[in-house]
Amino acid sequence: MNTIKQINFENRTVLLREDLNVPFDKNGILSDVRISAALSTIRFLIEKRAKVIVMSHLGRPKGEDPDFSLQIVADRLGQYLQKTVPVFSLSDTPPALEAGGVAMLENVRFYKGESENDPGLAKRYAALCDIFMMDAFAVSHRDHASTTGVIAQSPVVCMGPLFAKELAALNQALECPKRPWVAVVGGGKVSSKLEVLLNLIDKVDTLVVGGAIANTFLKAKGIFVGQSRIEPELVATAERILQTAQDLNKTIWLPEDVIVADNMDAANVEHKLVTQISASDQIFDIGPQSQKSLSKLLLDAKTIVWNGPMGVFEKPQFSAGTEALSQAIADSTAYSIAGGGETLAAIEQFKIQEKVSVLSTGGGAFLQLLEAKPLPALVALERHDSIDSTVDVAP
Ligand code: 3PG
Repeated sequence: MNTIKQINFENRTVLLREDLNVPFDKNGILSDVRISAALSTIRFLIEKRAKVIVMSHLGRPKGEDPDFSLQIVADRLGQYLQKTVPVFSLSDTPPALEAGGVAMLENVRFYKGESENDPGLAKRYAALCDIFMMDAFAVSHRDHASTTGVIAQSPVVCMGPLFAKELAALNQALECPKRPWVAVVGGGKVSSKLEVLLNLIDKVDTLVVGGAIANTFLKAKGIFVGQSRIEPELVATAERILQTAQDLNKTIWLPEDVIVADNMDAANVEHKLVTQISASDQIFDIGPQSQKSLSKLLLDAKTIVWNGPMGVFEKPQFSAGTEALSQAIADSTAYSIAGGGETLAAIEQFKIQEKVSVLSTGGGAFLQLLEAKPLPALVALERHDSIDSTVDVAP
């Protein structure tokens, strides 16, 4: 792969794939973490006097749909860069850019063949540029025309610095972690994290299982969980994971006390030991004793990988567990990596952005790497017949 230090960007058109798939509603952008993460790459290219065309997807539109236009993202980018960022469609003539100018291609999911990785579409993307830079780790798990297809069609490709930084950080944690290594896996569904749990169990020292995922594990341990959300078909799998952990001499951390209520909107909540749960209870957060033991575990850790909250942290009555987790990660001297949409939202809510060693922009891509599965865009970059490696790419 080309390193970006080897490439002369001056006056050359760079098609820059970013993941600017930000959460938004009718009032605008809800979190611009992905936009600010991409800024240093864009500024680097501006400094190198490149002509920059940023490309991204936004949401999952079925064809062209003005509700999913990247105009809101281009406007925000323009505010950060203090310049106008025109948006153009693939059927338009691209805007004539000066060296250091930035434009944005309209949402790639508007074009037929994007998700099917149509080579004709990939060729049209490649025709826009002299150099293709893949900087979107967060969408590297998709085999689409704008992620892998365009790489095969472009004469000069390179990995962008944000992609390289995220990949290096994750590889450092996964391949040569300082121990004790604690992985925190929370969130709503065992099924969406199963492969991650299976892959991590023989690598980490402690696997913290929280959120609704923990309910299925508590059930597997024979604990009565009342009306709490579980995945009955995965109880046996959870039992096997618990057994594997015991055989490997690894620890699976589960909450010893919890916050329960009749429903998620109830104002009346109760603190109970997991052995005291009654028939109408639903678990929505971990309790104070669990927060304490989790905090101690994280303060003693040397490496922490975090994906998924401990409870329904969006509701104040169920936010204490995820807040305690965030604070413990912030206070820990461990090398910490966090990723995933809900995790980044929690990090913003509890304002610990500066305290996490590496924030991954990836959701699905982050999980796929934790599952030890190949990332198609990375494979495509490695297959491209360019030269050298990409490790020293930080601008
Ligand atoms: C994400 O948010 O995980 C990425 O932007 C990928 O989006 P997708 O799941 O719609 O492909």
